[in-house]
Amino acid sequence: MDMSLFEQWESNIRGYCRAYPTVFTRASGVRQYDEAGKEYIDFFAGAGVLNFGHNDPAMKQAIIDYISNDGVAHSLDMYTTAKRDFMQRFIDTILKPRNMDYRLQFMGPTGTNAVEAALKLARRVTGRRTVIACSHGFHGMTLGALACTANDYFRKAAGVPLDNVLRIPFEDSPGGGVAMVDELRCAFADSSSGLEPIAAVIVEPIQAEGGVHVASPEFLHALQRLAHEQGALFILDDIQAGCGRTGSYFSFDDMGLDPDIINLAKGLGGFGTPIAMNLNKPEHDQHWQPGEHTGTFRGQDISFIAGAEAMRYFTDDTLMSDVRRKGADMRQQLESIAVQHGKGLSVRGRGMMQALDVVDGAVAKSIARTCFDHGLLIGPCGTGGRVLKLIPPLIISDEDLKKGLDIFTAAVAAAL
Ligand SMILES: Cc1ncc(COP(=O)(O)O)c(C=O)c1O
Repeated sequence: MDMSLFEQWESNIRGYCRAYPTVFTRASGVRQYDEAGKEYIDFFAGAGVLNFGHNDPAMKQAIIDYISNDGVAHSLDMYTTAKRDFMQRFIDTILKPRNMDYRLQFMGPTGTNAVEAALKLARRVTGRRTVIACSHGFHGMTLGALACTANDYFRKAAGVPLDNVLRIPFEDSPGGGVAMVDELRCAFADSSSGLEPIAAVIVEPIQAEGGVHVASPEFLHALQRLAHEQGALFILDDIQAGCGRTGSYFSFDDMGLDPDIINLAKGLGGFGTPIAMNLNKPEHDQHWQPGEHTGTFRGQDISFIAGAEAMRYFTDDTLMSDVRRKGADMRQQLESIAVQHGKGLSVRGRGMMQALDVVDGAVAKSIARTCFDHGLLIGPCGTGGRVLKLIPPLIISDEDLKKGLDIFTAAVAAAL
């Protein structure tokens, strides 16, 4: 397969193509195919974008119909029928059944842009600068979001100080947990603690890129309480764990949380085309002035069309109960791998985001490579790439899930 053009002309920044050294040509359901005709079961799903698989037939048809009828493809933030239908379906399917009252903010269609907007709004509302973010957190690559991202490989690329963030340990990091949040509360009460008042607490209910670390409801409640006691906003970044990944639309459903801002992106558009959206509490949203966080690509009408279609997966519990069941199967298989091999292996995750922490990044890399050679795409994450995160499309059949897990199991056995 000829990859020379990429190697000669594309920037050295390219990343995933080094882990998957082939040239893909088409994709359908849970499979991607390369130019040589080799097929791969996709347990990576565009880093959590392709929750409904590649080229979902109903979404594809809706997009084809829309384009055939000369639907507006690009609209900045003008009103379009595509956007209205998407918003209506999202409100009816996701917000109203949960009694959630939020304003929908669209921005440039990346997760990092959603985080930037949330940070700006929190700083505007509170008139403060400092934001609390967690160790192992991943919130994006633009400077504001990157300041909240913890990984030093990414942080070092900034080239400028990443400031205005107070870093705290995530729940399962050394020193982390509810007691730590209580200590922080005492520190904030002490006018000589040296702490600045905070604008927001931002956290992923399940840290995805950081190595699949799952926050308990108690930890999230403690952070929310701290934020609200301090007059700060509580921001939940559900960009990777949301949109059905954990077996409910939001990864924090049923926890009784009341976030001020929710970040969504990745799986929101359903088809894999870009879109990002923040849900802002109305009382905060009114602090925005028109067009203040502007962006050329806020009107992603193709994503609105597909995203409206994606809502049909959430009109009843059929897919979500299936996700919970398949997620339990994945977990069981990973746990049996961990027990069989010992060596400090551990399993973390919820729903259909499950991960095996193999401790050593080089081992994880060799497992991912063996999987690739045998037709399975998976991606390492976490510190030094030591965690293998399995995030297949939610619609995967039991048979394909088993096939993928069998390839993975054999790859782990070969490496260990
Ligand atoms: C939780 C979370 N927040 C933010 C982002 C950044 O999203 P994007 O890569 O679209 O900018 C990611 C990306 O992986 C993410 O997982």
